[in-house]
Amino acid sequence: MIATKLNINKKTHTVEVDPSTPLLWVLREHLDLVGTKYGCGVASCGACTVLLDETAVRSCSLPISAIGDKAITTIEGLSENGDHPLQQAWEEHDVPQCGYCQAGQIMNAAALLKSKPNPTDEDIDTAMTGNLCRCGTYLRIKAAIKTAASY
Ligand code: FES
Ligand code: FES
Repeated sequence: MIATKLNINKKTHTVEVDPSTPLLWVLREHLDLVGTKYGCGVASCGACTVLLDETAVRSCSLPISAIGDKAITTIEGLSENGDHPLQQAWEEHDVPQCGYCQAGQIMNAAALLKSKPNPTDEDIDTAMTGNLCRCGTYLRIKAAIKTAASY
């Protein structure tokens, strides 16, 4: 075990785990940040998406040894009071169904809006295509992203 420092949601956390441990396990098992979900475990569904600096990454497949001093943002740290424009738009459009995929969807959308504050339909489709939703909320997700961009 090696002590690793991680900057998560603007706080420094020190964890003593094998450096090859994927970030998702550290978030959920060691830091009780359970908003980030385990879906497939093989970078194929997007449920575990978090931000690494301003880029969306799949935390199930990111060993903590690869993070360095980059800033990690999880759904818990996206806004102080759950009032990020995406979170407001998600409520406005009543997006979630079972909810399981939604933290990953929002974090992926957050990365999109950081790089493209006014995304086109095509931008949204391209950015969100790898985030799966078994409940089929895709149309509401797209509408909510457009609304968030318009605030
Ligand atoms: S749990 Fe990470 S992509 Fe599916
Ligand atoms: S809301 Fe159920 S999996 Fe997306």
